[in-house]
Amino acid sequence: MILRTVHANITALQVDAVVNAANSSLLGGGGVDGAIHRAAGPELVHECRLLAGCKTGDAKLTKGYRLPAKYIIHTVGPVWRGGTNGEPELLASCYRRSMEVAATRSISSLAFPSISTGIYGYPIELAAQVAINTVRTVLPKFPAIEEVIFCCFSASDLAVYDSALVL
Ligand code: AR6
Repeated sequence: MILRTVHANITALQVDAVVNAANSSLLGGGGVDGAIHRAAGPELVHECRLLAGCKTGDAKLTKGYRLPAKYIIHTVGPVWRGGTNGEPELLASCYRRSMEVAATRSISSLAFPSISTGIYGYPIELAAQVAINTVRTVLPKFPAIEEVIFCCFSASDLAVYDSALVL
């Protein structure tokens, strides 16, 4: 089992599945969600319409269409409202549910963006700790998942994840 970070656009990654930081409609948006929908092409939103949305903290799977990744796992992170409104538990649930959904297919490599830390305002240092701790905790339950990549969109996010990974 390997946990690693990369500084990349997640839409370019050659992995079995990429995770999308979506909203509860699953019909697209800005940030990484917009980038994934643009790169995957218009068939993605057609499949997403059939999913009837997704609750915060949950995850749902679609095909990857024009992405190099075979699958997209759409999860909905919490909006940051100060941290005492269940945000850490909901963010942890995004990572856990994404791994559970990945384990239902033969997905051996999985890449996460930094869920909730863009438009949803979750402080990156806190979010990186939740991301890494949750993945480390649940990975032993999913031996088929060999590699988890934390895909950082900026050099500063990468530095935060790299520091959190060695703790
Ligand atoms: N590849 C990897 N990471 C990216 C990319 C990319 N192409 N683009 C942005 N990021 P955000 P959220 C990073 O805002 O905070 C959408 O409108 C970004 O720098 O995409 O969970 C949805 O529809 C940040 O580190 O997602 C929702 O309405 C991280 O991805 C809402 O935004 C997450 O930022 C979700 O907000």
